[in-house]
Amino acid sequence: MSVTRKAAVSLLFMAVSALALAQAQKAPSAYKPSVGQEGKDVVWVPTPQVLVDKMLDMAKVTPNDYVIDLGSGDGRTVITAAKRGVRALGIEYNPDMVELSKQNAANERVGERAAFMKADLFQSDFSKATVITMFLLPDINLKLRPKILDLKPGTRIVSNTFTMGEWEADETATVNAGCNGSWCTALLWIVPAKVAGTHKLPEGELTLKQSFQKLSGTLTANGKTVPVEGKVRGEEVVFTAGGREYRAKANGKRLELR
Ligand SMILES: C[S@@+](CC[C@H](N)C(=O)[O-])C[C@H]1O[C@@H](n2cnc3c(N)ncnc32)[C@H](O)[C@@H]1O
Repeated sequence: MSVTRKAAVSLLFMAVSALALAQAQKAPSAYKPSVGQEGKDVVWVPTPQVLVDKMLDMAKVTPNDYVIDLGSGDGRTVITAAKRGVRALGIEYNPDMVELSKQNAANERVGERAAFMKADLFQSDFSKATVITMFLLPDINLKLRPKILDLKPGTRIVSNTFTMGEWEADETATVNAGCNGSWCTALLWIVPAKVAGTHKLPEGELTLKQSFQKLSGTLTANGKTVPVEGKVRGEEVVFTAGGREYRAKANGKRLELR
């Protein structure tokens, strides 16, 4: 073989190898999940992409956040968060879905910010999340609720469709455009600081009872007691007593009036 022909053959070989490598990197996973397939505690149904976008909008995610999707399916919520510059983790029990998610993240070139782990969400530590997303079931949300309420105050929880029992959502939104009528509603909760108890304030003695984000109680000053109604959103506390509105910040168990 002449030198020129040899060079042409090796160039062709290099081009074919590069193409094969590029295709392998972009290759869709051989695994094709089917909607409704069995999962450990919940079947797989993907959240419509418009609702994924809405859920992340409602949580007001920024690059300072750390999003964890509990039961992450094909990885779409984690990948969408990563595309917004946010670090995100998917916890998924089905190992094939985990591999598919990793491939999807690589295809979208967000593998550095989008991580996936094969684990049972009930056995997982998600305490480092600043935003939790989920599309599970009402009874599973209820089982997770005590752990969620122990997260750092201000952590945002967004659920596709399913509620959290008597812990009412702080916000609910339904998307119409781009959603075919199923799984089009998102609910947002903000983990409230725990402020129940008695607080000695310059205004008097405030005694609070707390039911999730709702507050009730009394304020006693100069021998007079008036009823209190209020709300807590993350660390921000607002209450009214004696016709006046008060704002405070929860600092651990202490309330600091603003
Ligand atoms: C309804 S799908 C939601 C998928 C994804 N979060 C979304 O919104 O598109 C629920 C997912 O949870 C997974 N799953 C079910 N039980 C689980 C468990 N105990 N631990 C982790 N993942 C679980 C299922 O395999 C499934 O992918």
